[in-house]
Formats: sequence, structure tokens, C-alpha cells
Amino acid sequence: MAQLWGGRFTKETDKMVYQFNASINFDRKLFEQDIEGSIAHVVMLEKQGILTCEEKDAIVKGLTGIRSDVEEGKLSITDEYEDVHSFVEAKLIQRIGDAGKKMHTGRSRNDQVALDMKLYVRGEILQITDALHELLATLLHIMEQNITAYMPGFTHLQKAQPTTLAHHMGAYFEMFKRDVLRLKDIYKRMNYCPLGAGAFAGTTYPLDRAYTASLMGFEGPTLNSMDSVADRDYVIEFLSALSVIMMHLSRFSEEIIIWNSNEYRFVEIDDGFSTGSSIMPQKKNPDIAELVRGKTGRVYGALMSMLTTMKGIPLAYNKDMQEDKEVTFDAIETVKNCLILFNGMLATMKFNYEIMEKSATNGFTNATDAADYLVNKGVPFRDAHAIIGRLVLYCIEKNSSIDELGIEELKEISPVFEADVYDAISLKTCVEKRLTIGAPGQKAMEEVIRINRKFLEESRTDSSCDKLR
Ligand code: ARG
Repeated sequence: MAQLWGGRFTKETDKMVYQFNASINFDRKLFEQDIEGSIAHVVMLEKQGILTCEEKDAIVKGLTGIRSDVEEGKLSITDEYEDVHSFVEAKLIQRIGDAGKKMHTGRSRNDQVALDMKLYVRGEILQITDALHELLATLLHIMEQNITAYMPGFTHLQKAQPTTLAHHMGAYFEMFKRDVLRLKDIYKRMNYCPLGAGAFAGTTYPLDRAYTASLMGFEGPTLNSMDSVADRDYVIEFLSALSVIMMHLSRFSEEIIIWNSNEYRFVEIDDGFSTGSSIMPQKKNPDIAELVRGKTGRVYGALMSMLTTMKGIPLAYNKDMQEDKEVTFDAIETVKNCLILFNGMLATMKFNYEIMEKSATNGFTNATDAADYLVNKGVPFRDAHAIIGRLVLYCIEKNSSIDELGIEELKEISPVFEADVYDAISLKTCVEKRLTIGAPGQKAMEEVIRINRKFLEESRTDSSCDKLR
């Protein structure tokens, strides 16, 4: 057991207490951030005359040596240390002696861990944004290829009106676009540096907090030292954004599972992204989509866990907050894997255009357009709705679609019908007449694709969130 705080104690810590309290087994993930934060801290200490240039150089050299040794596997982070901060400090003192003991001047583990976690989440926001950009690029590609690929649109999982594959994919584009914007928004709000807050009341050393903040690409220092060590709002916001991403992925997965079913056969998932059954040789299962849907629960769980952990904590730091790490690390890992795998599955998925189009031509998806046809001939909409309702009933009895009826039959239902009705309610017309922005008509769709292509290019090269990249 290697602790930083033995002085006041007369007894060894109970072994189980030590293990229960220790966080090294998971906060070792913060190793890089801990080194980065420590380097910034000592560089600032030297600038302020608190450390000599030699001391600062020795510490920085010691820290970078520890970092490369861990990276190269020459040094391992073992659980004889309580947490990653203790590990780094102990190793530094072992290596450079007394100068190492000065590193923690004007710092507490409370502001140190607040910083490490912020640096970690900040980096992950950029990585997850990148994964979302990849998914958006796949969606945009499918949209561009499928502006006239007709398919039924659904409400209540009942065929409603015809639309296009580009339009359906475009709905998901908007969702994941908002996810990108949400992450960028969180990044900007959280990007203030807590280092220098000390245990919670600041320190008596003349620290230059703004300088430390600038060294690590923060907008500036946080403005209340108590809040600095007690704030995990950004973790909650981040987990909430991750939960929304999973909710979107899960909805999409559900649709793919339905579309991939024997009954629908709208899509075929690539062999590389499907699995078989141990007993039924004919089976090809959409396991990746099902797993993405299933893993949504554990990301929601992380959010619930953090909301609950934080709700009763008096100011300032309390050990409860150590619980932020495992759930957040797990949620990050889950979301990254889900985004990458889902994107791979989507990019390789085959669409059965014939089946989709055929499905759009039955199920009375042109009933609204038939009513609109009558409206254009002067029938009030409510009457037109009733006439088409009767017409649909007639068709169901005859087992035919509206456009399979002869003009005489149509005229019996309403004398307003003329020969031009067939063109007016054809699949193509139904879609192509919908030209308001956001609708599936070709011109409208092309305009939206142009706007979204520009969004993706600008978002990918936007440097407002990654000053240090
Ligand atoms: N492992 C701790 C955590 O993750 C580090 C901070 C410890 N601070 C303290 N006052 N015990 O929260």
C-alpha cells in the first residue's frame, strides 16, 4: 500500500478498506491527462517563481520519462498505489528525489482529478464527434445515390405515404447532426480549467491560473474554486448527449431489424456484419443492430448513475465523485464501438429497391394524393377524404389498388374523376410533387443534400473545439 497521506495516521489501513477506497484500477485511464496537467502546473509554478528553473526542468524530464516508460511497457501502473495521481508522484520522487516532492505545491488531488477528468472527456468529445462525422458521410452518400429510390413511409408502422430512401436516411442525418452540435456545445461550456482551485478554497501561492489554463487549451480558469472541484455537470451533460446518440442508433437499429426481416426484405445486411445460428442453418441474424439496441440501456444507466450520485453531495469534494469514472469510461467505450460498427453495417448494407418500390405501390399510400386530386377539382377536403375512404373500402373488397380500377368504376364513386387521375396518383407524382423544403421531392432533396454536404465539410474542419489538435 502506497499512500500520500500516512503522516496523521497511527494504524495501517484495513486491507479491504484500502481496496474499496482505491481507484487505480480504473483511473489509470487518466494517466496521460495526469502527466499533461502536472507539466502545465510546474511550468506555471516556475514562471511564478515558486519553483526554480532547475526544479521545473527536473520534474518535467521525470514526468516525460515516466510517460514514455509506461507507453513503451517498461513501467507498469500497479495497484500498490491508491490512485493514478499517487502512482505518478511516487514514481517521480523515486526517480528525481527531492525536487519531485515539490510538484504538488499549490495543488490538491481534488483540483487535479477535476482537471484530469475534464481533459479526458474533452478528448473523447472530439473522438466521438469524428465517429459521428463518419456516420454522417455514409448517410449523405446513401442519400445522394437514392433520391428517386421510392419506398413507403410509415406512421404507426402502417404504410402511410410514399417517400424515398434519400428522405428516410435524411431524417437520421438530421438526428446525428444535432448530436454533433450538442457535443460541440458541451465542449465549449465545459472548457474552463479547474486547476488552482486547490482542495476547494484556492491557495495562498501566487498561482497564475489563466496561464495554466492557456497551456492546456482552455478558454480560461473556472471562476469559483468550490464549484471547480465539485462540478460534474459536464459529465452529466456528456452522458446525456451519449444517451441521445444511443437512442438514435437504437431507433435506426430497430428499423434495420424490421427491414431485414423475412417479411419486409427491404435490406440485406452484409455477411460480414451478420451472424448465424448454432442450430438453424438457414439463419442470418442482425446481431450487430440488436446489440446496439441492447447496449443503449447501459449508456442510459451511466447517465442515471451520475445524476443519482451527484444529487445529494454537499459542497465541495466528496469521495462519492470518484464514481464518475467507471460509468463514464464504459459509456464512452460503448458509444464509440456502436458508432463504428453501426457505420460499417450501414455502409455495406444492400437495399432491395424492387421490393421497396413495390411495397410503396400497395397499401394505398397514394390515398392522400387521390383526395388532393379531388380537392384540386373543387371538392372540399373533408368531402374528398370521405370519398377516398369509400373508394379504399371498395378496393379492399375487390382486392385491388386505386390505380387498378377503371375510370368507369372510379366515376361511380365520384363523377369528378377524369382520366388524368392515374398520372396524378402515380408513385412518382406522389413523391415528386412534394417540393417544400424538407420534403422528399427531388428538387427539395437536392437542396437539402447541398446544405448538409456544406455542414459536414465545415463541421469536420471546424477548429473552435480543438485548439490543440
Ligand atoms: N481518486 C479520487 C477521485 O477520483 C481522487 C481525488 C481524491 N481526493 C480526496 N480528497 N480524497 O475522486
